[in-house]
Amino acid sequence: MYSLKLTNIGQLATFNSEMNDMAILENVEIVIEGNQITEVGQKLGDADKIFDCKQKLVTPGFVDPHTHPVFLDGREDEFAMRLQGASYEEISEAGGGIVNSIQGVRDASESDLISLVKSRMDRFLKLGTTTVECKSGYGLNLESELKSLKVIDEVSKLHHIDMIPTFMGGHAFPKEFMNNHDGYVDLICEEMIPAVSDQGIAKFNDVFCENGYFTVEQTRRILNAGNNHGLIPRIHADEFEDSGAGKLGGECGSISADHLMAVSDEGIQELAKNDVIATLLPGTTFFLGKTGYAPYQKLKDAGVDVALATDFNPGSCHIQSMPFILSLSCIYMKIPVLDAIKAATITSAKSLLLHNTIGSIEIGKKADIVVWDIERTLQIPYLVSDHPIQTVIKNGEILFTP
Ligand code: NIG
Ligand code: FE
Repeated sequence: MYSLKLTNIGQLATFNSEMNDMAILENVEIVIEGNQITEVGQKLGDADKIFDCKQKLVTPGFVDPHTHPVFLDGREDEFAMRLQGASYEEISEAGGGIVNSIQGVRDASESDLISLVKSRMDRFLKLGTTTVECKSGYGLNLESELKSLKVIDEVSKLHHIDMIPTFMGGHAFPKEFMNNHDGYVDLICEEMIPAVSDQGIAKFNDVFCENGYFTVEQTRRILNAGNNHGLIPRIHADEFEDSGAGKLGGECGSISADHLMAVSDEGIQELAKNDVIATLLPGTTFFLGKTGYAPYQKLKDAGVDVALATDFNPGSCHIQSMPFILSLSCIYMKIPVLDAIKAATITSAKSLLLHNTIGSIEIGKKADIVVWDIERTLQIPYLVSDHPIQTVIKNGEILFTP
């Protein structure tokens, strides 16, 4: 089998299963056969191709476990409204927000959406993300939700990046159900979820549980209905207010509870007790001009595993860069840099139930690797607006070279 060896690595920063923690290794080499890492160590044997890392930093590719990339247009007009003082919540209450993205997706052809999502994936990959969770949730009727999932599946087949599909019919209430929220929940549970399950693309089922969106009771119904059809629950929880969603995440067996800017102490205890991963999205706090970042230290002290994601979407966070998310999490949530890298690689892989195959540079894992143009991990968050990436290796294939 074709083999590739990465030599002359300055530092290798990766999660290490034996240590159960992050490690920085020096003077190591990596051998890849096909798409798999087969050796990590010093002075390894020859290979078909040698790649010189020029004494630079090497890390696993980022795993971004929370994005909403299937939309047509951006919503920069709402951005402008926020600059004038309106909040995201006020814009939503006035009929803007998520529902502003619905018509575009409903009217768009599958091929238009495919080419848009494909170019967004190009960008993710250039920024060092090698796996990305992708939600539907701007169709909000049966046909357009299935279309959105199909788009994710088609792009994933075409693209080097791995896309992990999540059904998010429970994102908002479309206008035809504005006065009949329970009717929309019925539609999700009785028609959409069975059809999504038959379609066989989605792996997860996510709901925006928040005051003004889905109540705890409605969220519980949707997550349980998904569970009955083999869709694993995730939850948007306590983003703006504590609505008890973090707590519900624990109760429903959600693999991850995301946002958590307003999670209560009780919610944190429930996450810890039920082994729910807290996926924090500091890009959203930043993009919305808010200051109440999620309580990283409290979560960590309670023993909750923390993952990081971009939350890339057209409304609340138009950010695709995981390196920038690391900057935000270090600056505003005071996450130590190695913990931030762990949160953006192995823990985010765990939140997608993929930690046995990706998220670290260890024997047997897929060769999803970033070779940086810097020497030290600290330079990733320090450089803020730079993307000092030299090469991305995906599935053992060298994708960009300087
Ligand atoms: O994760 N919070 C809910 N959904 C997105 C916002 C999507 C939008 O505004 O279009 C989020 O922030
Ligand atoms: Fe989101």
